[in-house]
Amino acid sequence: MRIFSGIQPTGTKHLGNYIGAIRQYVEGQERAHAAGDDALFCVVDLHAITVAYDPAELRTRLYDTTAVLLAAGLDPAKCILFRQSDVPHHAELTWLLSSVVPNGRLARMHQFRDKSAAQRELVSAGLLFYPVLMAADVLAYRADEVPVGEDQREHLELMRDAARDVNRRFAPELGSGEGGERGLLIVPEQRTPPVGARIMDLQDPARKMSTSSGSVEGTVYVLDEGKALEKKFKRAVTDSENEIRFDRAEKPGVSNLLEILAASRRTTIDEAVASMADARGYGDLKVAALEAVDAELAPLRERYAELRPDETALEAALATGAARATEIAGEVLSDVREAMGVGVPRGVSVPGRG
Ligand code: AMP
Ligand code: TRP
Repeated sequence: MRIFSGIQPTGTKHLGNYIGAIRQYVEGQERAHAAGDDALFCVVDLHAITVAYDPAELRTRLYDTTAVLLAAGLDPAKCILFRQSDVPHHAELTWLLSSVVPNGRLARMHQFRDKSAAQRELVSAGLLFYPVLMAADVLAYRADEVPVGEDQREHLELMRDAARDVNRRFAPELGSGEGGERGLLIVPEQRTPPVGARIMDLQDPARKMSTSSGSVEGTVYVLDEGKALEKKFKRAVTDSENEIRFDRAEKPGVSNLLEILAASRRTTIDEAVASMADARGYGDLKVAALEAVDAELAPLRERYAELRPDETALEAALATGAARATEIAGEVLSDVREAMGVGVPRGVSVPGRG
């Protein structure tokens, strides 16, 4: 099985990104490596330019995000870690896919509606096209599996439909690309973690933890430590009872803390609840969650401090990944161009062209 995921080089990565996505990348890297398959992880700078941004800050954030991924355990010797814009095939496949993706569907995507409502000046065409570029990211590698958080469900559905439509329309003879069958493109599966696919804001447990829309006090960043980290947990919003039980609808704050506790300790939610049987109140739950998160993130913080300053080494790691990604995407794009009838036909030699 081939694994692909992407992450935006925006803001500072938070506990939701870490538990929902980054930790799954590391697990996927190990699983793919053991099976002799590829796992690709892409820092998606082309997605980051679809909303207002500062070019110099984008460069800084790209290194921040790359260093977080390496610090979390991605290893360029075991996976393909690269920058999206280094592989031009993503942009080309976006355009080719744009011929099968309905415009009305893009306009109805939740993320497009939310983000375009939040833009003060320009709602760019790029924002509308965001899901097509994301589909191209994955489909350009014929990836089987996409580790992401729960919030990416709509994007994954669009991607799967785009793959099906291309296969049906341009290469039905090659197979459906689904259920283990080969095809021009592969219809990928979303993979979310059993615990922690949607971590909520500590101050507003009805909202997901998010860089762009959440509260700073309710967002736990992967590099938070000491008093700052402690404060966020101690001030987490709970409810007016004092019963520790998992019930997302009735007790969203307590349930979120239990989920963070379970995910950080790598146990089930039932085990997390059972471990709190002797707790005197929510204060104990907050301390337990804080300690579990701190223990989980401490090694990442240390490695990040070592890795982040050496931008030349970060560029070198990304360059290695880009070279291998380009090989794979180049082959897939050549098949797609052939099936769609664009470019020089296969087997035809053109005078003056290699
Ligand atoms: P982004 O930073 O938007 O590129 O997101 C990177 C990854 O983190 C994606 O796979 C998201 O689905 C995941 N993610 C973002 N927010 C959360 C959250 N609150 N809980 C779980 N996963 C999340
Ligand atoms: N849209 C994803 C997010 O906001 C990032 C992303 C871009 C992605 N391309 C991808 C995720 C391809 C998985 C696969 O988190």
